[in-house]
Amino acid sequence: MRVALLGSGRGSNAEAILRAKENGQLGRADIVGIFCDNPEAAMLKLGPRFGIPAFYLDPGPFKTKFSPEQEGVWANALQSQKVDLLVLAGFMRVIKTPLLGAFKNKIINIHPSLLPKFPGLDGIGQTWRAGVNEGGCTVHWVTAEVDGGHHLGQTKVSRENSDTLETFTAKIHAAEHVLLPRVIAELSLL
Ligand code: GRF
Repeated sequence: MRVALLGSGRGSNAEAILRAKENGQLGRADIVGIFCDNPEAAMLKLGPRFGIPAFYLDPGPFKTKFSPEQEGVWANALQSQKVDLLVLAGFMRVIKTPLLGAFKNKIINIHPSLLPKFPGLDGIGQTWRAGVNEGGCTVHWVTAEVDGGHHLGQTKVSRENSDTLETFTAKIHAAEHVLLPRVIAELSLL
């Protein structure tokens, strides 16, 4: 299964996936490339570190969506790499056509909340401010509805009285770094 990692920033989930691959824990998945919509993304540096091609591709002039032309460029680039699965690992842009059409039922995303609770931006902050006693992370199929597709896996993280937003955030990220490689491995073995 040929997998492309798409992201916009830090890349800690991408790093967890690449480490899982190094440790033989990614099933039959191969990571064929890193694709970022931000030329400053730290995630791009993972390419040389792990010996994987890493590309910045222009998403167009908008902040949270592609221009239709550039979304076509992304779709072509990913199709030319014969990608079987797109993994959105901190990709801060809504996916529409033509990308969604070109990779129908082949795109997954990780979101830092227990969906369907707290979709959209800042899932951890939303969870924290709601004062609930647990949060977590969800991996789901990507559909036209933001954070709305069928769930592939979910991990709960409890909020203790001693937690601060920082410690709660760190626990959720640690859970993400286990869940996302596990789901990719599971999909590769279907
Ligand atoms: C993660 O919390 C992920 O759930 C969300 O964006 C964040 C990306 O972090 N979609 P990183 O770039 O993987 O470190």
